[in-house]
Amino acid sequence: MDFLPLRHLLLLIITCFPPFLQPLCHDDDSIALLEFKNSFNIAKFASANPFAYPKVSSWRLEENRDCCSWDGVECDTDTGRVVALDLSSSFLRGSMNSTSTLFNLSQLQRLNFADNNFNFSQIPSAMNHLSRLTYLNLSASYFYCQVPFEISQPSNLSFLNLSCNDLVLKSPNLSSLVRNISNLKELHLSYVDISSGVPSFLANFSSLTSLLLDGCSLHGEFPNGIFLLPNLQVLDLQNNPHLMGYLPEFQSNSSFEVLLLHNTIFSGKIPSSIENLHFLVQLDFGVCRLSGLVPSSLGKLTRLTSLDLSGKIILREMNSLLFFKTSPSSSSYGLKNVS
Ligand SMILES: *[C@@H]1O[C@H](CO)[C@@H](O)[C@H](O)[C@H]1NC(C)=O
Ligand SMILES: *[C@@H]1O[C@H](CO)[C@@H](O)[C@H](O)[C@H]1NC(C)=O
Ligand SMILES: *[C@@H]1O[C@H](CO)[C@@H](O)[C@H](O)[C@H]1NC(C)=O
Ligand SMILES: *[C@@H]1O[C@H](CO)[C@@H](O)[C@H](O)[C@H]1NC(C)=O
Ligand SMILES: *[C@@H]1O[C@H](CO)[C@@H](O)[C@H](O)[C@H]1NC(C)=O
Ligand SMILES: *[C@@H]1O[C@H](CO)[C@@H](O)[C@H](O)[C@H]1NC(C)=O
Ligand SMILES: *[C@@H]1O[C@H](CO)[C@@H](O)[C@H](O)[C@H]1NC(C)=O
Ligand SMILES: *[C@@H]1O[C@H](CO)[C@@H](O)[C@H](O)[C@H]1NC(C)=O
Ligand SMILES: *[C@@H]1O[C@H](CO)[C@@H](O)[C@H](O)[C@H]1NC(C)=O
Ligand SMILES: *[C@@H]1O[C@H](CO)[C@@H](O)[C@H](O)[C@H]1NC(C)=O
Repeated sequence: MDFLPLRHLLLLIITCFPPFLQPLCHDDDSIALLEFKNSFNIAKFASANPFAYPKVSSWRLEENRDCCSWDGVECDTDTGRVVALDLSSSFLRGSMNSTSTLFNLSQLQRLNFADNNFNFSQIPSAMNHLSRLTYLNLSASYFYCQVPFEISQPSNLSFLNLSCNDLVLKSPNLSSLVRNISNLKELHLSYVDISSGVPSFLANFSSLTSLLLDGCSLHGEFPNGIFLLPNLQVLDLQNNPHLMGYLPEFQSNSSFEVLLLHNTIFSGKIPSSIENLHFLVQLDFGVCRLSGLVPSSLGKLTRLTSLDLSGKIILREMNSLLFFKTSPSSSSYGLKNVS
C-alpha cells in the first residue's frame, strides 16, 4: 500500500489551514468587528475608487471563526489581537459615534477608513481609547465639523490624514491639536478649514517628512524654519491666498522632493541656493508674489520633471531653463506670464 498520498494530504491540510498553527483571534475582537460591520450599510456609491469592494462581506463567523484572516484585518502574531484595520474603499455607509465597538479594539495600531461614507458623522472623541494608534487615515470619508482634541491623544501617532472631508479645526485649533504629537512624520490636512496661522513650533518637528495643507484658509506668515527641516520631502501650501512667507536660503542637507506654493502670497526672490534641493521633482511657484530673476542655478536641478513659475517672475536668460526644455523626463511646464 502506498502511504505517500496520505502524507501529501496531511501536508496539504497543514499548509492550507494555518489557523491550526496560529492563535485564533480573540472572541472579543471578532464580536466587536461584527457589531461594527452590522452598524453600516454596504453601498456602492460610498467609495470613489474604481477598485473598491466590500471587504466586510467576507466577515462571517459561520464560515471562518478566525477574524485574523478576514479581509482588511491584521492581528499580532503572538497575541492574536487585532492591530490593524484597513477598510479603505470598502463601500461602508453609515453614521458612527463613540459607542461604536470599533473602540473595543484597544490594541489597534493602524486604522484606515479612507474613501467611505460616514454620513457626516463627527469624528468620535473615543479615538483616545485607541492609545496605541500610530497611523490614522480618515481621508475622503464624509466626516464633518470640528476635529476633536482626543484624536491627538494616542501619543505615538506618526501618520494623520484627515484631508478631503468637511472638517474644521477651530477649537481645538491647529496649534493645540498638534502641539503634543511631535513625532509626526506625515500630516495631511488638505481642505480642512483651519483659518489660522501655521504654528512656528512645527519647525521643531524633526521627523516630519510631509506636510500637506492645500486649501486650508491659512493666513499670517509661514514660519521659515519649516523649510529647513532636514527630513521634509513634501510641502504643499497651495491655495491659501492669504498665506504670506519668504523663501529661505536652502541648505544642502535638504530632502525636498515636492514644493508647492501655488496661489499663496509668498513674496521676495527665489534664492540661488535653490540649487541645493538636489532631490526636487516638482516645483510650483505659480500665481504667488515671488518676483525678480529666476536664478540660473535652477538649471542644476536635474530631477525636476514639473515646474510652474507663472506669475511675476522674470526669466532673463531662458538658457538657464534650456535643460528642462530638452529633458525627456519633463512632463509639464507653466511659464505663462513669465517675462
Ligand atoms: C465594548 O466595551 C464596552 C465597555 O468596555 C463593553 O461594555 C462592551 O460589552 C464591549 N463590547 C464588545 C462587543 O466587546
Ligand atoms: C445619515 O444621517 C442622517 C441624519 O443624521 C440619518 O437620518 C440617516 O439615517 C443616516 N444614514 C445612514 C445610512 O446611517
Ligand atoms: C450612537 O449610535 C448608535 C447606533 O449606531 C445609536 O443608537 C445611538 O443613539 C448613538 N448615540 C448618540 C449619542 O448619538
Ligand atoms: C490614505 O488613504 C488614501 C485613500 O485610500 C490613499 O490614497 C493614501 O495613500 C492613504 N495613505 C497612506 C499613507 O496609506
Ligand atoms: C509607543 O512606541 C514605543 C516604541 O515603539 C512603545 O514602546 C510604546 O509601548 C508605544 N506606546 C503605546 C501607548 O503604544
Ligand atoms: C491622504 O488622503 C488623500 C485622499 O484620500 C490622498 O490623496 C493623499 O495621498 C493622502 N495623503 C497621504 C500622505 O497619504
Ligand atoms: C489656539 O488655541 C489656543 C488654546 O485655546 C490659544 O491659546 C491660541 O492662541 C490659539 N492659537 C491661534 C493661532 O489661534
Ligand atoms: C502636552 O503635554 C504636556 C506634558 O505631557 C501636558 O502638560 C499638556 O497639557 C499637553 N498639552 C496639550 C494641549 O495636550
Ligand atoms: C524649538 O525647540 C527649542 C529647544 O527645545 C526651543 O528653544 C525653541 O523655542 C523651539 N522653537 C519653537 C518655534 O517652538
Ligand atoms: C544642515 O546643514 C546646516 C548648514 O549647512 C547645518 O547648520 C544643520 O545643522 C544641518 N542639519 C542637519 C540636520 O544635519
